[in-house]
Amino acid sequence: PIEDRISLLMKEMTLEEKIGQMNQYNGSWDVTGPKPESGSNEEKYNNLKKGLVGSMLTVRGVKEVRAVQKIAVEETRLGIPLIFGFDVIHGYKTLSPIPLAEAASWDLEAIKNSARVAALEASASGLNWTFAPNVDISNDARWGRVMEGAGEDPYLGSKIARARVHGFQGEKLGSNTSIVACAKHFAGYGFVEAGRDYNSVDMSNSKLYNTVLPPFKATVDAGIGTFMNSFNTLNGIPATGNIFLQRDILKGAWGFKGFVVSDWASIAEMITHGYAANGADAAQKAVIAGSDMDMESSIYVKELVQLVKKGAVKESVINDAVRRILRVKFELGLFDNPYRYCDEAREKSDIGSKANNDDVLDMAKKSIVLLKNDKNILPLKKSGQKIALIGALASDKNSPLGSWRIAADDNTAISVLEGMQQYKNNSLVFEKGTDVALNKQTFLDEVKINTTDFSGFEAAKKAAKNADVVVMVLGEIGFQSGEGRSRTEIGLPGNQQQLLEEIYKVNPNVVLVLNNGRPLALPWAAENIPAIVEAWQLGTQSGNAIAQVLYGDYNPSGKLPMAFPRNVGQCPIYYNLYNTGRPTDKDQNVFWSHYSDVEKTPLYPFGYGLSYTSFAYKNLKMAKTSFQKGEKIEISVEVTNIGDFDGKEVVQLYLNDPVASIVRPIKELKGFELVTLKKGETKTIQFTLTDSELGFYDNDGKFLVEPGLFNVMVGWNSNEGLTSKFEVK
Ligand code: IFM
Repeated sequence: PIEDRISLLMKEMTLEEKIGQMNQYNGSWDVTGPKPESGSNEEKYNNLKKGLVGSMLTVRGVKEVRAVQKIAVEETRLGIPLIFGFDVIHGYKTLSPIPLAEAASWDLEAIKNSARVAALEASASGLNWTFAPNVDISNDARWGRVMEGAGEDPYLGSKIARARVHGFQGEKLGSNTSIVACAKHFAGYGFVEAGRDYNSVDMSNSKLYNTVLPPFKATVDAGIGTFMNSFNTLNGIPATGNIFLQRDILKGAWGFKGFVVSDWASIAEMITHGYAANGADAAQKAVIAGSDMDMESSIYVKELVQLVKKGAVKESVINDAVRRILRVKFELGLFDNPYRYCDEAREKSDIGSKANNDDVLDMAKKSIVLLKNDKNILPLKKSGQKIALIGALASDKNSPLGSWRIAADDNTAISVLEGMQQYKNNSLVFEKGTDVALNKQTFLDEVKINTTDFSGFEAAKKAAKNADVVVMVLGEIGFQSGEGRSRTEIGLPGNQQQLLEEIYKVNPNVVLVLNNGRPLALPWAAENIPAIVEAWQLGTQSGNAIAQVLYGDYNPSGKLPMAFPRNVGQCPIYYNLYNTGRPTDKDQNVFWSHYSDVEKTPLYPFGYGLSYTSFAYKNLKMAKTSFQKGEKIEISVEVTNIGDFDGKEVVQLYLNDPVASIVRPIKELKGFELVTLKKGETKTIQFTLTDSELGFYDNDGKFLVEPGLFNVMVGWNSNEGLTSKFEVK
């Protein structure tokens, strides 16, 4: 058994070697080149040789991984293999849509498969650990990292979290195509104040237990191997040094047996936060709080030995952390074959394969959300139409790759232009109209946005004037979202809004295709532009997916996983809010919960999305209206495809508990079903509610199911549906 093998090994290990397992370095030198001769890289290299490193991040490619693993296995005293981590966030080389986009599919099988493809390619490149899924719930579109998560809702977020873990890890770790997943960022990071990255988080226990924690818990239940803590403070205590989060909840109440890695230098940052006096203090606080592995602070390897020797940290704390790390390495089978992920043949055949491209194309199509389609301007006709394609993003082969795609080569996405050129029976004219960015897109640099160059407007207007339909591809460039990419204006960047309005003046038959990594606020477009397609950043096959949707070869079925606000001032905005004491204007005058200058509802709510066909809902039924606590509640609804296309619909069930010991949201998603309906077809959709859907966590984290009335809505978005009620006694 693994536990016995770990015990035997740990008996052999010195304290230094144990602490070495808790040390993770970024491979910041050329690992197949000459040995680094000075500075921190030399220190890293020397520590590697001494067996004082447990893991490397960013080393990738079979040759590189093999070279570094060889040092650990052949040159250190005990030969303990390293675990190799990397940010495989939405694919490795062949990219899937950004995670927020995938969430719009509500298609758990497809999402799981997308993670599987990522695991297949990453593992073929020597990697065995991904820093994903990001399961941070967030309802603030200003925060750039919303692109990495599954949106605003904890129920949908939990289902997707589970699917992603199963996709990355396979049914069980141990096959050479499975990689360990890592739930991040534990916890609260999605609620950084004002959407500014790395900012502080202050939140109620109710929000923590009911909104933030459920997707993390879902990953533990799904058997996830690792967690990453986060940069932020939570109610004044850095997550990295947070005993309550890591010891009490994660390793205590939830019984998590894997290990926790810090975020990049987040142990050292506890000093900057003002929570630790120096490196030793930071190391002591982090390890006692349950941070098992130090990513890039180099603090554990420097400080922990002394701290243990002088009794400031118990050796049992170290032993627990090391056991957890070794357990994951054993589960991966690294002790049986440290090179099991180093297969040059697989690296050649499995990365960028036709099958992987087919899979990410499938995922990309499923992620597209049709936001508006007045007078059925879409789908486009397949022949005889004169089309003007406008917008720099239409020919951009980089932006659709999105952020967090370090292993993918630049400019490898199929652009919309390339996608549309495959439909040869229409005339297609392309004009970019304007540039979005002035500088080259990179992961590390701030994007400089064009606000001054209007020189392409005239040519674009001319093309639009001569066209039957204008397709405009506008939005954010790939690196405008992601880590460190918070924004306070979330309209179309640069002068794209002006371009849109100018084009509309000369030809109002505009189809707006949006490329973006976060919800945008586009009230003018929603009011004026007849068709809007939310196409996010869809990865390698982006342009093919968009073209197939525009031409009707694929009927879109995505639904927003995050509300689109009317303006940035509404952020944070979300559907599962509390009622307040003054929710409506029936009390006259201005003294009700609203804004004076804009409606309080979002432009497009959570769960919203159209199709080329339409669906009718009827007969929302329950066998009875009164149930005993613990009894299963069956609810059904009939959905009919009443339009002209075959299509898919996400049928959504929301609950409201109108009176509770802690106020409950006006609505909470508690079930959904993605259903395929042929033209004219009707299906009965069945939902089963149990205590886990009816209950909630109190402020001590206790799960309560309180008897009383429940309102139920089954519908096509979080705002519209058929309603009923039942009682639980
Ligand atoms: O995994 C990431 C994390 O999400 C943000 N900081 C860096 C880590 C490793 O790249």
